[in-house]
Amino acid sequence: MSGAPSNPLGSALPVTVEARGVSKTYGTGNVAVHALRGVDFHAHQGEFVMLNGPSGSGKTTLLSILGCVLTPSEGSVRLFDEELASKKERDLPRLRLEYIGFIFQGHNLVASLDARENVALPMRMRGWSPSAASREAESLLHRVGLGDKLDRKPSELSGGQRQRVAVARAVSGNPPIILADEPTASLDATTGLSVTELLKQMATEGGHTVVVVTHDNRIFHLADRIVHIEDGRISNEAHP
Ligand SMILES: Nc1ncnc2c1ncn2[C@@H]1O[C@H](COP(=O)(O)OP(=O)(O)OP(=O)(O)O)[C@@H](O)[C@H]1O
Ligand SMILES: [Mg+2]
Repeated sequence: MSGAPSNPLGSALPVTVEARGVSKTYGTGNVAVHALRGVDFHAHQGEFVMLNGPSGSGKTTLLSILGCVLTPSEGSVRLFDEELASKKERDLPRLRLEYIGFIFQGHNLVASLDARENVALPMRMRGWSPSAASREAESLLHRVGLGDKLDRKPSELSGGQRQRVAVARAVSGNPPIILADEPTASLDATTGLSVTELLKQMATEGGHTVVVVTHDNRIFHLADRIVHIEDGRISNEAHP
């Protein structure tokens, strides 16, 4: 990448993920839920953005749409140069694999795999050899402070340790965009802060775009930008 000004949104760094006029309605008729109502959102390379708002405001829905887990009912989503509206449902897994590392609300690690195997899994899916994926998984687990827990199953780890495995798995294979849904929800203040600092480091040192959904005001100071969402709309943006 050239580093020259390359987007109209005021940053010198390229926009990696962008939503325009995105709406999402679950169900139809009188049971329809309008989870998102015309959301515009973007984030650029190396940016650490937090999405905040009340329960039910549409945060997970927006993150899932940005992460190619869900398709919008209306509007467009762009990852790098790829416009998702022109893609079919069956293209979404390929896009996820190419661009996205996702930390789900509740982390969903594979229970039957140990920490190293969980972290290696996305790299194996990206075509890495078993030995290269395993070596890289070890190095990532060392980086999140779990170098001595490589062979532990999720059930043999604490909540904070599981969350750190989920962070290592999300960055495994080096996807440019990392999305995390409430990564500190089940953690004490110290562990929550260290998980968030790790995500921040992914943005500042690794150049990843990191978008984190959170209610946790103990970590707001680490964000480059906080986007507030209310009743399916972005209501304001702040720089802490
Ligand atoms: N699969 C679904 N079917 C029907 N309604 C849904 C579905 N998923 C979410 N909703 C509704 O859409 C709205 C937004 O949900 P969403 O999960 O995006 O909220 P959220 O901001 O992440 O909330 P929380 O902070 O509680 O996680 C809510 O009213 C929710 O009940
Ligand atoms: Mg949610």
